[in-house]
Amino acid sequence: MTDNAKLSIGDKSLEYPVLKGTVGPEVVDIRKFYGQSGRFTYDPGFTSTASCESKITYIDGDQGVLLHRGYPIEQLSEESSFMEVAYLLLHGELPNPDQHDDFVRTITRHTMVHEQLAMFYRGFRRDAHPMAIMCGVVGALSAFYHDSTDIDDPAQRMIASHRLIAKMPTIAAMAYKYAVGQPFLHPDNSLSYTGNFLRMTFGVPAEPYEVNPVVEKALDRIFILHADHEQNASTSTVRLAGSSGANPFACIAAGIACLWGPAHGGANEAALNMLREIGRPERIPEYIARAKDKNDPFRLMGFGHRVYKNYDPRATVMQKTVREVLGALGVDDPVFEVALRLEELALSDDYFAEKKLFPNVDFYSGIILSAIGFPTTMFTVLFALARTVGWVAQWNEMIEDPEQKIGRPRQLYTGATARDYIPLDKR
Ligand code: CMC
Repeated sequence: MTDNAKLSIGDKSLEYPVLKGTVGPEVVDIRKFYGQSGRFTYDPGFTSTASCESKITYIDGDQGVLLHRGYPIEQLSEESSFMEVAYLLLHGELPNPDQHDDFVRTITRHTMVHEQLAMFYRGFRRDAHPMAIMCGVVGALSAFYHDSTDIDDPAQRMIASHRLIAKMPTIAAMAYKYAVGQPFLHPDNSLSYTGNFLRMTFGVPAEPYEVNPVVEKALDRIFILHADHEQNASTSTVRLAGSSGANPFACIAAGIACLWGPAHGGANEAALNMLREIGRPERIPEYIARAKDKNDPFRLMGFGHRVYKNYDPRATVMQKTVREVLGALGVDDPVFEVALRLEELALSDDYFAEKKLFPNVDFYSGIILSAIGFPTTMFTVLFALARTVGWVAQWNEMIEDPEQKIGRPRQLYTGATARDYIPLDKR
């Protein structure tokens, strides 16, 4: 703890403790503010509010730094695997070889879903957006796994966490299969987490499926890049839902719903749609002009971030991965050219420089996912799949936090004051 923060309001002089984390801005602890002053603080969008204490992920948006449990995202995405990062996020340390094998075995053994769950898909239209299916099916998991919904039991919490991480690829692949009218494939536990997902998505029962190691590695890296991102909108949604004591499956379904929006996870789908619409480098200036026009709601999708006011480190890795994947698959997608040129032109434009708008993780991810064969509607589903581990890690941390309370913000009320009801025939 450092010096107190002093605040005068009306005739009162108040003092608040300033809390210091291991790194990052200090935090003024205003928990007693309302009790002492009778006033609330006002912070729509939580731009100045730390909603919790956390030890999981750190972002320095000015420097373009992202650390998971202290480890830089560049090192994790280059040298680690998604399973290892999942263990790290959940348990706080990198696993030793035995812990790693145990964890992989546990996750692998939970990949199947209750057979009855398949019936849920048949209730959806074939042209349903897969994120709509994800919201419904993941929410329904609590109806199947009652034995891991007691949030006060750490063992049940861990089983629910493992189930969610393990079943998400199966559920996501089934959403894809349903849309294309192909039979669901059961998991093959001889494959890796990511290889298994690729097979369940693109394999068919009629013939063996060969996992392409370049694609497997690239997708695993994409999963690492999306695994967690501190208190973003969907994670805060998961924490808020969980703060009431809701079961983990319901909380993750809430996170998926929040992620779907185009300002958040839906941006990867929107970004590729935008790049395809632009189509040719010559049309870029027209779109940059639209993005700068105050009277046009259009924004460059995959650009800008609430926290990063410098290059998103995930976008750097992603850009490199696009080259590798397109090269290995022999795909010549003109959209990559458009993306590179758009980035170049936007970064040399004063509007983007002044507002510190840089490409984010979603700017390049769609190009890779499309080259692998995923339709755009699946992009946000893949984000949800990968982010599930972050959500469950943050949810577990919240439940174990002795300071945890139900999340219940207040408001600045500007509606009508008390008035008398007028009967219908008198209005
Ligand atoms: N194109 C054009 N102008 C933009 C953009 C953009 N992509 N992003 C922000 N701005 C402008 C915005 O108009 C505003 O201008 P002014 O100050 O003149 O009103 C200023 O920059 C600040 O924007 P903001 O909306 O107040 O900033 P925010 O922190 O609330 O929003 C954001 C962050 C990510 C929602 C926003 O940058 C955006 O909508 N980007 C496009 C969608 C996108 O790519 N989202 C993915 C985020 S990364 C993946 C994830 O974590 O989900």
